[in-house]
Amino acid sequence: MASTQDTAQTPFKFRPPDNKGVTEINDESKKLFCASFQVPALRVPAAATNAFLKAGGEYLLNLPRCRSAVEDTAHHQSGDVAKGQHRIVLLRKDFPSDPSLIPTRLRDLISQHAAALVEHTLTLDYSYWTPEDILRSILPAGLQPPGSFETAGHIAHLNLRDEYLPYKSLIGKVILDKNKQLRTVVNKLDSIDTEFRFFKLEILAGDDDTVAEVRESNSRFLLDIRRVYWNSRLQFEHERLVRLFHHGCVVCDVFAGVGPFAVPAAVNASWGPAAPGVETNPSAPPPSRLVLANDLNPVAHEYLARNVALNGVEGQVVPYNLDGREFVRRSLGELGSERVQNGIKEAVKRSKRRAREREQALAARKRKRDTDDDSDAKGRREKSGTSQVSSDADTETVDIARYRWPHHYVMNLPATAVEFLDSFDGIYRPYISLLAPDVRSRVEDPEHYDPPESAEGMPFPMPMIHVHCFSRSEDPEVDAIQLVEKHLRCQLPPGSVTAHRVRDVAPRKEMICVSFVLPVSVAFRHNKDEKKT
Ligand SMILES: C[S@@+](CC[C@H](N)C(=O)[O-])C[C@H]1O[C@@H](n2cnc3c(N)ncnc32)[C@H](O)[C@@H]1O
Repeated sequence: MASTQDTAQTPFKFRPPDNKGVTEINDESKKLFCASFQVPALRVPAAATNAFLKAGGEYLLNLPRCRSAVEDTAHHQSGDVAKGQHRIVLLRKDFPSDPSLIPTRLRDLISQHAAALVEHTLTLDYSYWTPEDILRSILPAGLQPPGSFETAGHIAHLNLRDEYLPYKSLIGKVILDKNKQLRTVVNKLDSIDTEFRFFKLEILAGDDDTVAEVRESNSRFLLDIRRVYWNSRLQFEHERLVRLFHHGCVVCDVFAGVGPFAVPAAVNASWGPAAPGVETNPSAPPPSRLVLANDLNPVAHEYLARNVALNGVEGQVVPYNLDGREFVRRSLGELGSERVQNGIKEAVKRSKRRAREREQALAARKRKRDTDDDSDAKGRREKSGTSQVSSDADTETVDIARYRWPHHYVMNLPATAVEFLDSFDGIYRPYISLLAPDVRSRVEDPEHYDPPESAEGMPFPMPMIHVHCFSRSEDPEVDAIQLVEKHLRCQLPPGSVTAHRVRDVAPRKEMICVSFVLPVSVAFRHNKDEKKT
């Protein structure tokens, strides 16, 4: 066991001894991290301990995960006092030896209880030290322990710079050892899968198991971090958008990954505002949302489907495995398809059934309470009320029309999503016959193309597009909006567009989400294929 003497003038830092030669963490090498420190202490009557702790103030030894008052082992080992009569109150190493510098309240207590100033041996071992303490002791001087790491379920993922690579297994082992909720530590290698955006990984320590279970926004996700994209830092952005969607709306998630926008949007039907212009019954549960969720990565698609089932939102979230461009172009047709319409109809019925069952269970519990309160009449009244709930719900019809048109498109593929904006060109043209004659005549004449810019008078809403992108500009919001306008090939009216800073991804590189209402001129634009025919 090493003994560490304090000679420094600066505030004393409790650290394990240097163990630069250690190459493995095992039961033997862990013993090397045990260290003893001599600290000043007051030997006080056990009954007065709390008074000393209160009066000690800033002079108490305030070590994280360490009590400031400990058993008086030294004395009762030597047999000179009965066990438990005294306690040791630990003091900071710079506790003044000059009594005049001791705060009056503490000085008075010392003399009142004849407390003795003693030396206490404080022993701290491997189990006490933080991962940073252990790594600082092992890594070469000048190499600071790597900073914080991210986790996904039982997995910690690090992004080690080159200088740490010779020590990567040790670093992994210490992190694993010190975080009981972890089973696997991985290092992200520099190469990212350019198409599906997941990182190549190497296992540093623990189980070779990269399938994590993660919880976010009241939802559970299974995902293999070796084969699909996942970023816990996007949790706030996922939640921000889901809270923006109104009750009972339709969302198309173009780059859905394993579903962190799509699944919570369906799970949290009550989040967000009520549907604009729709009368709602405040005592009824809000209508379900419908989400078409797409990802080109077949593995992400597979996990998305599993997560839909895991969260019980089948029919409310419909998974697709298409290229984003094709998904956007097919989305309106898909919403009108029997598969989607029947799926949401069943899902709405299912969620109404669940709400009804919950209500009945509550009523049954209340009835039982009332019966227990010896009121037979009350019980009978409640009983007839319950059967009313059931028959009402059974005859309810599903308002399927609300799920016919999309209200939101989410496009979270910041590196290239803006390049997919041209897929909105003319997606509403197949529905032009639904427009009022005057509006239609303005949008269908390719020679005198003059569409209205607002959705007013349209038989369907124009959806909001939420597209993520990166900006390195001094003014990232303005830059991101200009980028979107360039790819849309039209100017967005100021009131119809916002830019939200999501996060810094690197020095001077911001992730931005631009949200705008799809301009009618884009929605009914003659697309390239149409022009050719
Ligand atoms: C940045 S991730 C975002 C995933 C998810 N929305 C999230 O927030 O975690 C982008 C996703 O787009 C998918 N992707 C990449 N290219 C695509 C394409 N051409 N069409 C559809 N999906 C694509 C990737 O597989 C990846 O899952």
